[in-house]
Amino acid sequence: MEDVLSKKSPFIGEKIRLRAVEKSDLDDIMKYWNVYESRVGLGTIIPMSSMMEEDFIKHTHESAKSQKAYYFAIENKETNEFLGTCGMEDFDWTARSGVLGLSIHNPENHNKGFGSDVMKCLLNFGFNFLNLNRIELCVIEYNKRAIHIYEKLGFKEVGRKREAHFLQGTYNDIIVMDILKREFDL
Ligand SMILES: CC(C)(COP(=O)(O)OP(=O)(O)OC[C@H]1O[C@@H](n2cnc3c(N)ncnc32)[C@H](O)[C@@H]1OP(=O)(O)O)[C@@H](O)C(=O)NCCC(=O)NCCS
Repeated sequence: MEDVLSKKSPFIGEKIRLRAVEKSDLDDIMKYWNVYESRVGLGTIIPMSSMMEEDFIKHTHESAKSQKAYYFAIENKETNEFLGTCGMEDFDWTARSGVLGLSIHNPENHNKGFGSDVMKCLLNFGFNFLNLNRIELCVIEYNKRAIHIYEKLGFKEVGRKREAHFLQGTYNDIIVMDILKREFDL
């Protein structure tokens, strides 16, 4: 009991804080969400409208209520700047498995350690709060920065969807990676 109370929140990292996505985040989401350099990492570059993002915000609320998925806004812990969104979805409550994703929207905020910190929080949340045993993600083969942080945290490649993605006239493999609870070292 005492041990539980002395542990820190999974939603607060060294540099970031995760919180619920709010209606008031819409303007911040729209600021950098359609920036090519960031969206290319996710593989979908078609511009998204504020109406689509309003739907996303509603979806974050509805899916949390039904426990189908959990999405969070990412904030800079020091400045409270909105950095992006992340989440965990596609749960299999029998195999205790889930899928995670994240995006730091403004390319000027890349390579500052925010993404690694978000990943640590999400993994801690998934394994120690949702009691998952396995967490999966997909990454396009050219997203070397993302692959680097996933491998550093203990994710392993489990397979490739060969040439499953197409961008700028080129087919790319989608790499499926996963990590098990026993491999996670906070
Ligand atoms: C991918 C993403 C989440 C990474 O977060 P980030 O905050 O930029 O990354 P961090 O600063 O925490 O870590 C970057 C690491 O990658 C390394 N890196 C940077 N560019 C690299 C490259 N081209 N190849 C290999 N490693 C690279 C850095 O040296 C650093 O490594 P270190 O921690 O060992 O020093 C972020 O860039 C992002 O949101 N990109 C756009 C959307 C996206 O691609 N989402 C992921 C989809 S799978």
